[in-house]
Order: sequence, then C-alpha cells, then structure tokens
Amino acid sequence: MLFCFVPLIFLSSTYGYQYKNIIILAGQSNMSGRGGVINETWDGFIPPQSKSNPSVLRLSAGLTWIEAEEPLHKDIDINKTCGVGPGLAFANYVLSKDPKQGPIGLVPCAIGGTSIAEWARGGFLYNQMAKRAKAAFLDGGTIRAILWYQGESDTVTKEEADRYGERLERFIDDVRSDLQLPTIPFIQVALATAMGPYIDIVRGAQLGMDLPNVQCVDAKGLALEPDQLHLSTPSQVKLGEMLGDAFVGTISSPLHSLAPTKPIPYLDFQHCFGSGPLLRILWMVLLYGLFHQ
Ligand SMILES: *[C@@H]1O[C@H](CO)[C@@H](O)[C@H](O)[C@H]1NC(C)=O
Ligand SMILES: *[C@@H]1O[C@H](CO)[C@@H](O)[C@H](O)[C@H]1NC(C)=O
Ligand SMILES: *[C@@H]1O[C@H](CO)[C@@H](O)[C@H](O)[C@H]1NC(C)=O
Repeated sequence: MLFCFVPLIFLSSTYGYQYKNIIILAGQSNMSGRGGVINETWDGFIPPQSKSNPSVLRLSAGLTWIEAEEPLHKDIDINKTCGVGPGLAFANYVLSKDPKQGPIGLVPCAIGGTSIAEWARGGFLYNQMAKRAKAAFLDGGTIRAILWYQGESDTVTKEEADRYGERLERFIDDVRSDLQLPTIPFIQVALATAMGPYIDIVRGAQLGMDLPNVQCVDAKGLALEPDQLHLSTPSQVKLGEMLGDAFVGTISSPLHSLAPTKPIPYLDFQHCFGSGPLLRILWMVLLYGLFHQ
C-alpha cells in the first residue's frame, strides 16, 4: 500500500517544490510578446529556439507551475493578442550554454501599453508582479534576474520622457528592497524606435543607468513587424539570446547544480500524456503494478 502513495505524491506535486532558477519578465508589449501578431491575430508560428522544453516552466496566472509555451503572457496580458516574446528563447539559450542548470521558471508579468508611472510601487502592476515573484520562490527556487522591456509609452511627452530615468531607478530600488534581493541582476532593453518623439531621452536614461548589476541590451537594429511597433518573431529570438548572454555574464557562482538534469520519470509521463485526476489514478495503478511484479 505504501508504494501506492509514493507515485501519487510525485504526481500531485507536479512541478512545485522543485528547485528552479526563477526569472521575472516585466514591462510592456515587446516583453509580453507580439511576434507573429498581425492585425490582432497571431500566426501560431513558434520558431525552434522558442519551443517548449520540459526544463522550462512558467508560473500561470493561477500561480501554478506548468510547462512553458509561447505565447508566455497569454493568461497575463489578457486584453491583447499575444504572440512570441523573448522569454522562451532566452531560457532555451541559457540552458544550451549550461545544460547542467536546473529548470528555469519564467514568471511573466508584462502588460502591453503600460507606462513607467503605472509600474510604481503600490500600483496594480507592481503589486501583481511582487505577488507572483513571491509565489514563485516560495515554491522552491531562487530569483536569478529581472528582465525588463518597457519605455515606449514614455516617449510621447517630454515631461514623461524626462522623468523616465528617475522613475526607473526608483522602480529598481523598490523591487530589490521588497524582494529582499538588493543585488538581483536587472537586465533591461533599450528601445530602438518609438511612436513618440522623445525616444532619445528615454534611450539615454536606459543606456546611462548607473546602478550596480543593472545591464542594458540594445534592441537597435532588430526588425519590427509591419505595424512598425513591435519586434517580429525572429527579432524576439535574437533578443532572447542577447538577454541570455547578458544573464550568463551575471552568474558569478554556478547556478544550482543539485537540480536534476533530467526531469524525473513521473514528470516525463505527465509531459507525454497530460495530467488530470483520471490519468494520475491510471499512472498510480500502473506504477503500483510495476512495483509488485
Ligand atoms: C491588416 O489590415 C490592413 C488594414 O485593414 C490590411 O491592409 C492588411 O492587408 C491586413 N494584413 C493582413 C496580413 O491581413
Ligand atoms: C483588461 O480590461 C479590463 C476592462 O477594461 C480591465 O478592468 C482589466 O484591468 C484589464 N486587464 C489587464 C491585465 O490589462
Ligand atoms: C518594441 O521594441 C521596438 C524595438 O526596440 C521599438 O522600436 C518599439 O517602439 C517597441 N514597441 C513598444 C510598443 O514598446
């Protein structure tokens, strides 16, 4: 009878309580992902670099860990049509650089069309991100970095653009202090072009940010969708890899190496055949049978 419960426990916990390298994704539409979205319809194309992988998980809107799949923000940025973003390409790239790393747990928090003022501490976006970040690490793991791609909405008026640098610094300080991770790497993306006329001011603030462990990856030169507003799918892949290089450069000590390099077989079963109470019982019965042969 004891054997009967062992697989049950594994199957019930699914991806929770497993060591994870947690990465927070925040910002506006380009972080959320609009690659392949034309006229509010996503073309459904997922490039090989952004394919799902059992070692890359995603915190769902309901705060449970599931295997990550593009569009990563589909249950978070719910009022927009989401497409491919940089998240999965980033995670796959980091794992390709060091396959010994444990699973990567992505925490999507980006919402399209949001300005830096809306991300201030105490607002909905900030609170939601803080809540998701805390839920993510309580469930086993360490927050390794925050990836940030935002600023387009702040290029429209000079007043907002002028305040961008100060607001972003405040945001970084607040997040670090509320998560009690004063040196967490913060990797941001410098805008390439923008709708508003004050892009140079925002870019200047992004590239000139002088805080410890804050890096900036430059999106200049990456191709846009025909809307001229969002990165295309191939650009999102490239950006994910650039963020991956910046992230790998921040790792002073090796990432957790005790994490399993392969998912445990129970997770594989689930990966292949889905989950749900009936399947769990089926596997329980099968495994029970195996143990008693
Ligand atoms: C998107 O909409 C515009 C304007 O309605 C139209 O000209 C264009 O052909 C559409 N593009 C696609 C790929 O459907
Ligand atoms: C979606 O739109 C509704 C209605 O306008 C709004 O209340 C809600 O905050 C929006 N949610 C997000 C995530 O943008
Ligand atoms: C998306 O990123 C591109 C490249 O940096 C930039 O030109 C564009 O303004 C961004 N769009 C939004 C809506 O943030």
